[in-house]
Amino acid sequence: MRQEQLRILLEDMTLKEKIGQLIQLSGDFFKANDISYGPREKLGISQEMVDYTGSVLNVAGAKATKEVQEHQMKVQPHHIPVMFMSDVVYGYKTIYPIPLGMGATWNPQLVKLAFEAAADEASAGGIQVAYAPMLDTVHDARWGRVLESPGEDPQLNSIYAKAMVEGFQDKLAEGKGVVSCIKHFAGYGGVEAGKEYNSVDMSISNLFQNYLPAYKEAIEAGAKMVMTSLTSLNGVPSTADQWLLNDLLRKTWGFNGIIISDYASIYELIKHGFAQDSSDAANKAINASVDIDMKSPCYANNLSKLVTDGKLDEKKIDEATWRILCLKNDLGLFEDPYRGASETREKECLLSTNKRKLARKIAATSLVLLQNKNEVLPLHKNTKIALIGPYGASHDLLGMWAVHGEAKDSVSIEEGLRQYFSNVKVEKGTDINRDRKIFEEMGFFTEKQIKDIISPEAIEKENNRKALSLAQDADVVILAMGENTLEAGEAGAKTNLSLPDNQVQLINQISKLGKQTVLLIISGRPLALHNVIDKVDAVLECWFPGTEGGNAIADVLSGNINPSGRITMSFPFTAAQEPIYYDHLSTGRPLHGSQHVGRFVSKYLDAPATPLYPFGFGLSYGHIDYEQLTLDKNELTRQGQIRAEITLNNTSDWDRYEVVQLYIRDQVATIVQPVKRLISFKKVLVKSHNSCKVDFIIKPEQLAFYDNYGCQILESGKFTLFIGSNSRDCLAQSFTLLD
Ligand code: NOJ
Repeated sequence: MRQEQLRILLEDMTLKEKIGQLIQLSGDFFKANDISYGPREKLGISQEMVDYTGSVLNVAGAKATKEVQEHQMKVQPHHIPVMFMSDVVYGYKTIYPIPLGMGATWNPQLVKLAFEAAADEASAGGIQVAYAPMLDTVHDARWGRVLESPGEDPQLNSIYAKAMVEGFQDKLAEGKGVVSCIKHFAGYGGVEAGKEYNSVDMSISNLFQNYLPAYKEAIEAGAKMVMTSLTSLNGVPSTADQWLLNDLLRKTWGFNGIIISDYASIYELIKHGFAQDSSDAANKAINASVDIDMKSPCYANNLSKLVTDGKLDEKKIDEATWRILCLKNDLGLFEDPYRGASETREKECLLSTNKRKLARKIAATSLVLLQNKNEVLPLHKNTKIALIGPYGASHDLLGMWAVHGEAKDSVSIEEGLRQYFSNVKVEKGTDINRDRKIFEEMGFFTEKQIKDIISPEAIEKENNRKALSLAQDADVVILAMGENTLEAGEAGAKTNLSLPDNQVQLINQISKLGKQTVLLIISGRPLALHNVIDKVDAVLECWFPGTEGGNAIADVLSGNINPSGRITMSFPFTAAQEPIYYDHLSTGRPLHGSQHVGRFVSKYLDAPATPLYPFGFGLSYGHIDYEQLTLDKNELTRQGQIRAEITLNNTSDWDRYEVVQLYIRDQVATIVQPVKRLISFKKVLVKSHNSCKVDFIIKPEQLAFYDNYGCQILESGKFTLFIGSNSRDCLAQSFTLLD
C-alpha cells in the first residue's frame, strides 16, 4: 500500500479502532491454541476490543494463524490484518542450542545461519515477528534467564546481536524472514541477587559500558521492534521510562520502530507502585512511547477515556498506530495477510535435513570441554560404554524457551552414541532431581506428575544398583546429568547451583569403581561443579543442545569433531560467589598485587575469589602453545593503530580451532576500569604440528569507556594488552595512548 493510502486509512479509523491496533492478546481470545508462558487470567476486555486487536501472541502454525487471520479481518471494520508475534528464541521447530551455548561457539556467522533458518521455519508457520534475540548482559548464574543470553561480555554480545538480527531479518523481503523484536530493554540481566523480576540498580557508566551496547548494535543492525523489561531500572520501571525509551532509544539512537511492553508489564506498573491504577499505568506507558500493550487490559480499557477526558493527546495514539500500520505495510500484509504461512512450505522446511544438519553443527560447536584428565576423550570405537543418568535416554534436550519445539523430534544422547559405538548400555541411575519442593515451585506440575518424576525410594535404590552394576562392567562410564528443563529459563532463579544431591551421590558411588568417567552436563546456566570434577575424568558442558543434541554430543565424544566451544559466562566454584564475571572493576585491595598480604585483600575466607572456569575457557583435543606476543609499537597516537601479533604452536596430532582472545586493561582512568575487557577475538584453525601467527589491529576508539553521564571518553595513558586462550591465561604487553 502506498504511504498516502496508509495515511487515509489511519485518518478513517475510529479512536477505538486505533487503540485496538495497540493491543496484543494471546490465542485463548481467538479460540486458538497458543503456547504462552505467563500468568493466565481474564483481562476483562470487551469483545469489541478483542475484535479490533492488532496483534496476536504465540499462536503458531500455518493453519491456526490463517484461521485467526481470516476471522479477525472479517470483524475488524477496515479489515486490517493482525500481526502474529511469538517467542522464537533459539529455533522454531528445529531447535538450536540455547543462546548461552550459541555464545560459546564464538562463531557469529554460524549463529546467523541458525537465526536465518529459524526465521524460515517460523515464517512458514505464519509468524511475522520473533521475540528475540534476548540481549541482556548476564552476570549472575542464579538468574534462570542467563539461558537466553549469549553471555557476560558486552562486546561479544554486540557481535552476536548483529548476527542474530540480520539472520532474522535479511530475508524479510523474500517472505522468509521475521521481524526481530529485541529484548528486554533495558538491563534486565542486572536483577539484584539473580532473583527473577527483581529490581535493577546500577551506575550509568555500568549501564552504558556493559548493558546497552548489544541493544544499540541490534538497533543499528536494523531491528524493527524492541520489548521493554519487566523490571525497574534505577527506580523507574522500564515500561514507563521516558528517559530510556523516548530520550535514549528514540531520540539519541534514532529508533523509529515499534516498542512493545513485556507480558502484562503495563498493568504491573501498579504493582511496582509507579502507577495509581490501570488508567494511570496506560497513560504513563503511552507517554513513554510504548506502542503495544502485551496481555494487559490497560490500553484496551483506558486509552479512549483518557483522550475524551483530555488527559492524553490523541496524537500519541496516532503515532503508535502509524508505526504499527507501517510495519504491517512493510511486511506486505495488506496485500497478503497470510504472508509466508503455508502448510506446504511447513512440510518442506520444518525439521528439514538441512536444518537438522545445521543444528547438529552448531550444537557440536557449542559444546565446551571443561576437563579431560589423562586424555580420556575422545573414546575409541569399540569402547564398552555404560551411559548412566537421567539424560542418557531422554529427549528433553531443548530447554525452556524452545516453546514450539517438540522433544519427540530430538535425538537423545543414547541414539547419538549408538551411531558411533556398538557397545552402549543405558541405565537411568537416578532421577533428575528428588527435591519435591523445587517441582512444586516450578508451577507447571500436578501432584500426579511430581509423583511420576520422583521415584519411590525402593525404585530409586534399584535404579542406583542397576547403574552401579552396569558401570562395573564397562570400560568407560558416561554420566548424563544436569538440570531439569524448567529449572532454567524465565522464573528459573535458584540459589543452589550444584547438581542435585541425588546426582552427586551417584557420581560419588561410581567414582569409587575406578572406571574412566565422563560427565556430561545438560544445563541452562553455569553450574557450580567443584564438588564433582575430582570424581570424574572428563567434563563436557552440553547446555540444552537442541534437536540434534545427541548427535552433536556423540560427534565430540567420538572425536569426529574436535570441541572448540569456549564459555561466555564464568563458572563459579559456588553459587555464593555470584555475581561473578571476568570484567569486574579493579579494587583498591586486589587479591594479587595489593600492598596488604593475608587477610585484608578482596577475597572470601571459605572459597576462592576466582571462578572455577573463567570466561573464555574451554579445551580441545590436542595442545597449543601461545608464544611471542609482540606489538609493532608501544606508543599509539589518536589517529594511529597498533598491530599485535602472537604465535600459536600446535604440538599435537589434532587439527584444532583456537579462539584467540584479545583483552585490554586501562591502567589509570577517571572512572575505575575493569581488570580486563575483551576487545577482539579470532577463531582460527591450526593444523596439527603446525604453527601460525595471528594478528590484531587495535585502534584508539576501542580503548574508550563511558562515564557516568553516558558519554564515551578516551583518555591517554598506559594500557596493558593481553592475548590468550581465555580471560585468565594470557601473555601481556604494554603500550601508551598519547594525547
Ligand atoms: C515474558 C517474557 O519476559 C518475554 O521474554 C516473552 O517474550 C514474553 N513473555 C512473551 O511470551
